[in-house]
Amino acid sequence: MKIAVMGTGYVGLVTAAGLAELGHQIIGADKDAEKISRIASGRVPIYEPGLDELLAANVRKGRLSFSSDLDAVTREADVIFVCVGTPQHDDGSADMSQIEEASRLIADNLNRYKLVVEKSTVPVKTSHWIKRTIGLYKKTNTDFDIASNPEFLREGSAVSDFLQPDRIIVGVETERARDILCGIYSKFKDRLVVTNIDTAELIKHASNSFLALKISYINLISNICEKTDANVEQVAEGMGLDPRIGGRFLKAGIGYGGSCFPKDIKALVKIGEDLGVDMSLLKQADEINLDRIRVLMEKVKQALWILKDKRIAVLGLAFKPETDDIREAPSIGVIRELLREGARLRLYDPQAAENMKSLFPAEPERLEYCASPYEAAEGANAILLMTEWPEFAGLDLNKIKAALANPIMVDGRNVFEPAAVRKLGFEYYSIGRK
Ligand code: UGA
Repeated sequence: MKIAVMGTGYVGLVTAAGLAELGHQIIGADKDAEKISRIASGRVPIYEPGLDELLAANVRKGRLSFSSDLDAVTREADVIFVCVGTPQHDDGSADMSQIEEASRLIADNLNRYKLVVEKSTVPVKTSHWIKRTIGLYKKTNTDFDIASNPEFLREGSAVSDFLQPDRIIVGVETERARDILCGIYSKFKDRLVVTNIDTAELIKHASNSFLALKISYINLISNICEKTDANVEQVAEGMGLDPRIGGRFLKAGIGYGGSCFPKDIKALVKIGEDLGVDMSLLKQADEINLDRIRVLMEKVKQALWILKDKRIAVLGLAFKPETDDIREAPSIGVIRELLREGARLRLYDPQAAENMKSLFPAEPERLEYCASPYEAAEGANAILLMTEWPEFAGLDLNKIKAALANPIMVDGRNVFEPAAVRKLGFEYYSIGRK
């Protein structure tokens, strides 16, 4: 059986490499010929631990190839995983034009039965539109099936998430589709959950929105902690020990970012509202998240008063550790505010600086990119921590203090222990704890 993976973004690349690793014959396809030739020559366009090696190993074993000839790939494939992008419209809804384009491509090339598996994060009911589009435009009377198989991988641990999944959701409407998809994932047969397609689609949006809600909830609690003597880390620990709650995704900070939570929660709000459902619970969670930038900025002002011409070191630009992705990163909102106030910034991130340069190009005297945290701290009036990269926890704080003009640290991710940092002579601000 030949499997095509359409789209070579995060989900597409990991799916292609992961399915090949499971032993399947995979063609990764993308209309961007230049991107395909870069990937085929081993230059992976994203930073994701273990992905380069997994792609290279499977190319070497002859199980994985890449092509930008979408017509040929579609004709050759028995199963097509649709992993194209679904970016966000201004009203929060998902832009489905790439899904439509993929559906029409499949219709044009439906030379024999094919199973079309939607893996991109899509609003509930999308598969019905894919099915209708293929049905409308197909040129032969050939059968096909649609399935939904949402992806739950996290950036930074995408490879292990794919190869050691908690669950595989298989949304199908025919026995044939179920047998094919369950066969592809037979290695994980103890973790397969078979549902109808609407359910599978909704599981994805409902899961991401719930996790986002959990984060906003603990951030809301952290606001109460800051006005009392409570410590949010301990509140989260105490709550998380109840297995009905669970301790994960209860880390207070400057809020969730990335290409998924901010987009998915807005999309689910839009879907619900279009269906006449009151979605204020999720709207509030989204608003609490946006407010995290203000909370962080208040701390910076509490420490520095006037920001104009203050030198500020910003450590961590990626939306989370172990990725170079800056999409919807909270650091962007903070940098924007700091620049608006006239601060002079010295930025550092182990992986994401290059991406940040496209949003905020270096400007002499106003915004500099630094080669290390110590260089960023040089002469700064305060240091801000925006992403909890493991290397930051291991920083030599004495060296940082010596580099800073004022020993002030605002830790937006609670990386350090307040007492320990203060003992070194820092004025230290963190989230939801004194
Ligand atoms: C998220 C989901 O966790 C995946 O299951 C899902 O497949 C993926 O979206 C997707 O839809 O493609 P991801 O966006 O890569 O994965 O990253 P997460 O680890 O979930 O973190 C998201 C954001 O929440 C980050 O900005 C992180 O810093 C923040 N976060 C996470 C917190 O602020 N507190 C926490 O306790 C956990």
